[in-house]
Amino acid sequence: MIDIASVEFKNNELVILDQTRLPGEEKYLTLETKEDVYFAIKKLRVRGAPAIGIAAAFGLYVATRDSEAEKMGEFIEEVESTAEYLRKARPTAVNLGWALDRLVEKLRSFDGSVSAAKKMLLQEARDIRQEDEDACRSMGEYGLSLLSKGMGILTHCNAGTLATAKYGTSLAPLYLGQDKGYNFKVFADETRPVLQGSRLTAFELSKAGIDVTLICDSMANQVMKNGWVDAVVVGCDRMAANGDGANKIGTNALAIVAKEYNIPFYMFVPTSSLDLDTPTGDDIEIELRDGDEIYKMWYEKPMAPEGIKTYNPSFDVTPAELITAIVTEKGIVRPPYAENLKAIKEL
Ligand code: MRU
Repeated sequence: MIDIASVEFKNNELVILDQTRLPGEEKYLTLETKEDVYFAIKKLRVRGAPAIGIAAAFGLYVATRDSEAEKMGEFIEEVESTAEYLRKARPTAVNLGWALDRLVEKLRSFDGSVSAAKKMLLQEARDIRQEDEDACRSMGEYGLSLLSKGMGILTHCNAGTLATAKYGTSLAPLYLGQDKGYNFKVFADETRPVLQGSRLTAFELSKAGIDVTLICDSMANQVMKNGWVDAVVVGCDRMAANGDGANKIGTNALAIVAKEYNIPFYMFVPTSSLDLDTPTGDDIEIELRDGDEIYKMWYEKPMAPEGIKTYNPSFDVTPAELITAIVTEKGIVRPPYAENLKAIKEL
């Protein structure tokens, strides 16, 4: 597995790998202000639900550590308003609000000085990062128990080490399997329009020495029809209480096609992405992004008439009934999801 951290707190600084520059350039950015953190998330320099949560947690700390507030009440207000600002960077991945809420709630019940509270916020951000690494490793082990040697695996977007603290969610079993000689044959959808599959998944898997074949999104059906895919593995940005899961646009179509060919469809969901306050997928806000991503962003010249009408939803929702099993860090969840997800979250 590659030794690259997408978010790190080192030498007292919040450093992210700018994922918009991959695969061509490994450029690191230091984030110092709340605006740095907000735009890093909004512009996808750091992306992937768990990585967004980790960056936001460290971001809340770095953006408030120089606060001149002397009284706790004043400091809490400052942290709360910074958290509200950061929360608006992107709407779909629940980890963003989840991580910010976790720090703010801890602060509200903290009994101590402002300087001790600042240290506490940093420690909480460190804990979130470490817990994510542990969760990913655990999802990797559970996920691997669903797979067999030599399988063909189709994945979408990037739910790998770049999207998390380490290992990834749906890519974690591929890394753990590689160490055990599983020799998976992975198909990575390019994942239009932002190309997380080709720029990030193909990058990290090939760099790690895993057999990966890049395909256009529109080729996934053909690859499944050819009999080359034994399992589809994807991540999740927010799973509702009934098991409907929002993930990168195109995920739902894969689940529909997988069902047609009787291919198991596994969604990898750390419990930090499980939102029991959202009843169903219809209640998940889907981010709409700039249409330039569709026809300008990666091209030297516009690939559509200038000013064309566009529709660019960044995520879609896969209904629970199309998900064969949900892999969490606490175990594999099978239907009935409403009951079993609630139980696993409470474990
Ligand atoms: O827009 P992105 O790149 O942040 O979308 C990322 C995804 O959809 C991932 O699959 C999801 O966040 C899970 S990452 C472990």
